[in-house]
Amino acid sequence: MQTERGEATHGITRDGEGRLCCGGVPLAEVIRTAGVSTPAYVYDLDAIAAVGRRLSRALPRGSVCAYAIKANGAGPIVRALVHEGCGVDVVSGGELAAALACGVLPDRVVYSGVAKRDDELDRAIAAQLRGIHVESVEEIDRLAARAAALGARDVGVAIRHNPDVEVDTHANIATGHDEAKFGVAAEDIGAALEAIARSPRLKLRGLSAHVGSQIMREEEYAAGVTAVCELATAVRAQGFGLRYLDTGGGFGVSYRDEHATPDPTRFVATALAKMKEHGHGDLELVVEPGRALVAAHGVIVTRVIQPKVSRTGRRWLLVDAGMNDLLRPALYQAHHRIEPLESKPGEARVAWRVAGPVCESSDDFGEYLLPDPPPALLAIRDAGAYGRSMASAYNARPLASEIFVARGGIAAVRTADGLAETIERELGLTLARGADRS
Ligand SMILES: Cc1ncc(COP(=O)(O)O)c(C=O)c1O
Repeated sequence: MQTERGEATHGITRDGEGRLCCGGVPLAEVIRTAGVSTPAYVYDLDAIAAVGRRLSRALPRGSVCAYAIKANGAGPIVRALVHEGCGVDVVSGGELAAALACGVLPDRVVYSGVAKRDDELDRAIAAQLRGIHVESVEEIDRLAARAAALGARDVGVAIRHNPDVEVDTHANIATGHDEAKFGVAAEDIGAALEAIARSPRLKLRGLSAHVGSQIMREEEYAAGVTAVCELATAVRAQGFGLRYLDTGGGFGVSYRDEHATPDPTRFVATALAKMKEHGHGDLELVVEPGRALVAAHGVIVTRVIQPKVSRTGRRWLLVDAGMNDLLRPALYQAHHRIEPLESKPGEARVAWRVAGPVCESSDDFGEYLLPDPPPALLAIRDAGAYGRSMASAYNARPLASEIFVARGGIAAVRTADGLAETIERELGLTLARGADRS
């Protein structure tokens, strides 16, 4: 990829010698130089910043590309996106604190979530965010009570609408249908407006909808946008003023072929066009993409532990990354490309079933054509989103290290805790000196 200024932002590419590179640096060299053990996440900060820049520039002044920090909250990534003009979409008090620590202006932060605790509402009220996105009438009453308790005025609120739009995606990431727990259904919008109007401390600023993730076609995104626009027409007709419409995230990414990934700016263009068409061109637009900014620009480097060939002929390739490091295959049956770090021309490949060390049958990445004998190191591609942010220390496994590449070198490293630290933090046990080395 080339930036508008012409500098190269490589992303994850293979060089002329068959070496898989991140930001132009061979991944094997990145791991060696960083001095971390595998599994390790490696990200290209320049490529991530370039997507943030393109999306920010595709929006008119006042509108916001609010990066869904849940996709990947690593400090260097969020700071790079904020630097490029992105705002942040948060869904917890922790994410809010992290976003503010990365220097984002509160007016560029939106906060969704069906079950915000009182202390989280208090934090959001105190921060004076662009909008607290309420997801039920009950929540509006709680928010009004917290605003009264804090003596706050002018608390910006947006109603997250559940428009009952079905998108063609995995059931676990579809959020805008009528059975989902998210958002305020059409029948309850009137009660939500009344509850906001009842409180002298709350101010309706926007309407939002996020109908699901992995939307690959603009027409599907347009269905959610149309629902928000129609709601805006009805709400404005009742005399409520609005500042912005938030049409959510969900810009899809192809996990099999990066060339099939839709240009994320097309979703923004679709939303802007629909708003104009519905007579809401005077309002600001907020979008909440997560995965589209980071998925393709991160990999997990994993080491092959050993093959295991069963008598039935199944060829397992057991690696040191597991479902605790990357949950998506186990949670959503997601496919991630798995490739050798160094590929040699003409080498024979056979079908390997790649699996991790976690004691669960679902810790299984699926079948891949890989060299035989297998290489020492593999890359699990497109792991930049919902990878490390969903990781756990299940099976008392340390969280993976993270390496951030920028301008052709290593910009930052977050080294994984050792065994002793992991056991202390996760299990509350202190190991005898030297026991983590035996
Ligand atoms: C409210 C909301 N906004 C934005 C997103 C980001 O979705 P994606 O990473 O698919 O763009 C999500 C994902 O779960 C979400 O729930």
